[in-house]
Amino acid sequence: MDRTAREFEFSDRHFSKISAFVTAHTGILLPPAKKDMVYSRLSKHVRKLFQGSFDTFCDAIENGDDEIKELLINAITTNLTAFFREKHHFDYLKQYVFPELMLKNKTTKRIRIWSAGCSTGEEPYSLAICLHEFFNDKKDWDVKVLATDLDANVLEQAASGIYAIERLTQFSENEKKSWFTRGKVNTDLVKVKSFLQNYIVFKRLNLLHTFPMRGPFDVIFCRNVIIYFDKATQRDLFHRFSEKILPGGYMFIGHSETLFNISEQFVSVGNTIYRRQS
Ligand SMILES: C[S@@+](CC[C@H](N)C(=O)[O-])C[C@H]1O[C@@H](n2cnc3c(N)ncnc32)[C@H](O)[C@@H]1O
Repeated sequence: MDRTAREFEFSDRHFSKISAFVTAHTGILLPPAKKDMVYSRLSKHVRKLFQGSFDTFCDAIENGDDEIKELLINAITTNLTAFFREKHHFDYLKQYVFPELMLKNKTTKRIRIWSAGCSTGEEPYSLAICLHEFFNDKKDWDVKVLATDLDANVLEQAASGIYAIERLTQFSENEKKSWFTRGKVNTDLVKVKSFLQNYIVFKRLNLLHTFPMRGPFDVIFCRNVIIYFDKATQRDLFHRFSEKILPGGYMFIGHSETLFNISEQFVSVGNTIYRRQS
């Protein structure tokens, strides 16, 4: 039963059409309990573009209107993130992974990290900060982060490197000065310094699709993305991750996620930290 009185008619038939489309195109599951969430995320667009008619909105999706399909995907994805979210992952990188890669990759002097499902960029910029702290004095090392997401809006924000100053609560005043420049006109905004941006390449990528990059990666972060996927999609995804990560490479997942019964290719080495079997 619907819990809220809605401004526009939003029937179970509208909801099933929308949820079937979203699951097929993103892997994100939308059980009936998400009906209110879907309505609240879409109603403002349906008001503006379709005079409040979910019928017309669903027709546009069924007729393959690319702009509306993109609007729907961008509205439904959950983009919550933060700088140094799950800080223990970044501590682990600096304490164990980077020193190990210094030895393992000493002939190639190359390190590749993939932030898969990077949202508005706080995760790849946190990785860039760790890389900079560790590798800045090793100028002959080639270290890069590939940051990808399905949602074009969050990627655009990520690539701009511009954030509201209140997003920086995790940083000390000195750290803020080291990594960000304060806006001159709008002093409530900061921009990530360009030397950090230079570590990162942002690209749009749907994780359900074939991975176009050659890889291989030393480390993959795919955190707080698979919670919305069903088990079969998770299995397939981690199988394909295992093909892009080097033997012994590290896989970091979100705090409420697990690879138990999902992948035999990765073994647990810490709290939500895995390694690809050699
Ligand atoms: C909750 S955010 C996680 C951000 C970051 N990894 C973190 O843990 O803070 C989940 C991100 O996954 C992205 N996403 C969801 N389904 C996706 C898919 N099929 N392909 C690529 N990205 C997807 C969403 O757009 C969203 O930005």
